[in-house]
Amino acid sequence: MMLNWDDPLAAPIPRVNGHKPQLKVVDAVDEPVVEVENREIVTETQVAESTPAQPQASATEVTEAASPPLEEAATQAPALRRARQPLTDEAFKPQQPVRAEDKRVINGSGDINQLAPFKYPWAWEFFINANKNHWTPLDINMAQDVHDYHHNLKPEEVHVYENVLAYLTTSDILAMRNIGLAVMEKMTAPELQIYQARQVYEEALHTWTYQHCIETIGLDQSEIYNRYRVVPEINGKIQLANRRLNDALRADIDLKNRDDLHDFVLSYTFFAGIFEGCWFYNGFSPIFALQRRGLMKGTAEQLQYIMRDEVLHCSFGIRVVRQIMQEENVKLDPQAVRDMWDEAEAAEQAYAKFLLPNPILGYNAEDHSQQFRFIANRRARQLGMEEPFPGAQNALPWLDEQSNMRKEKNFFETRVTEYQTGGALKWD
Ligand SMILES: [Fe+2]
Ligand SMILES: [Fe+2]
Repeated sequence: MMLNWDDPLAAPIPRVNGHKPQLKVVDAVDEPVVEVENREIVTETQVAESTPAQPQASATEVTEAASPPLEEAATQAPALRRARQPLTDEAFKPQQPVRAEDKRVINGSGDINQLAPFKYPWAWEFFINANKNHWTPLDINMAQDVHDYHHNLKPEEVHVYENVLAYLTTSDILAMRNIGLAVMEKMTAPELQIYQARQVYEEALHTWTYQHCIETIGLDQSEIYNRYRVVPEINGKIQLANRRLNDALRADIDLKNRDDLHDFVLSYTFFAGIFEGCWFYNGFSPIFALQRRGLMKGTAEQLQYIMRDEVLHCSFGIRVVRQIMQEENVKLDPQAVRDMWDEAEAAEQAYAKFLLPNPILGYNAEDHSQQFRFIANRRARQLGMEEPFPGAQNALPWLDEQSNMRKEKNFFETRVTEYQTGGALKWD
């Protein structure tokens, strides 16, 4: 049946020849009735016949294949009932209580389905704190941004605005997939997985936020979303991230193998320390520079909410990496780490030059690259590593303050809940 997206609950009861179909106990084997867009009533078989040949089986065939005949189902029923009987006392053996000391970040032997006792209470704290930054992109007024974009931004500022969004939106999908598909499954303590489950949601929320900005401003969605495919400097960062993160995503990884373990830790270090800790942290700053001049303030506020999440993601990831290195006695190959920083810097410099071939008021490519190196040093210290770019200066001293929203806000311009959520967060 076609779903009415405007009102999903309002789907009419399908009728055939003016008669309401008779409900039967097993109606899946009958040919069900569907409704198509022109409101004619047709069967699923008719839909299949009017559709070009598909490699998949028709809906009717799938239904038949998935549902055993009634006679067969009847003979299976006693077996199913037996399987559902409770275990007898002889079969049940009580298990030893879970001990916190059996838990490890990876390769642990604790029960992944039992939350406490905690071994990593800080991970639970991350989850609690993440829930204090609760928002959706619809909470923020974008009306002035629409006006700014069409009337107040100069061409070079439009170029900055669009390309920052084009890079970020692809990056956040990558982030969601990396945490959800590659990292989370390898954690063997539930308190770590629970925060990462929240992180997966937040990355999806960030993708929604960019989509909301792109749609609200009235940008060409297809062109913006395809931009990373045609702009080498955006593509370079995405491809570098894909290559680095694939070391954690590949299906045959074995974390009991020392080489695989090393590659996984290096990949997670890149993700937390560079991808989130530098590229995202520094990635919003061109739009914060516009915000400081009173431009695109709605978008900037959206990014401030995202920034809060990303600071937590980065801090959590770095803590997990350090914990793994301690528990598993992993020492990263110094040359591999050096290459990681250098590759990331080269990609960021190329991106900055594309983004800002000429300075905009209050922001330029060299400041952007300098700030990357300054933040990279901070992440390296947090990771317990040597600074990769000694002497790098804080080119954007306003960024740390701009990235948090502890400053007073006009009560009538923002959400009341912000007072409850924002004031409770601590920053790195
Ligand atoms: Fe994100
Ligand atoms: Fe993130």
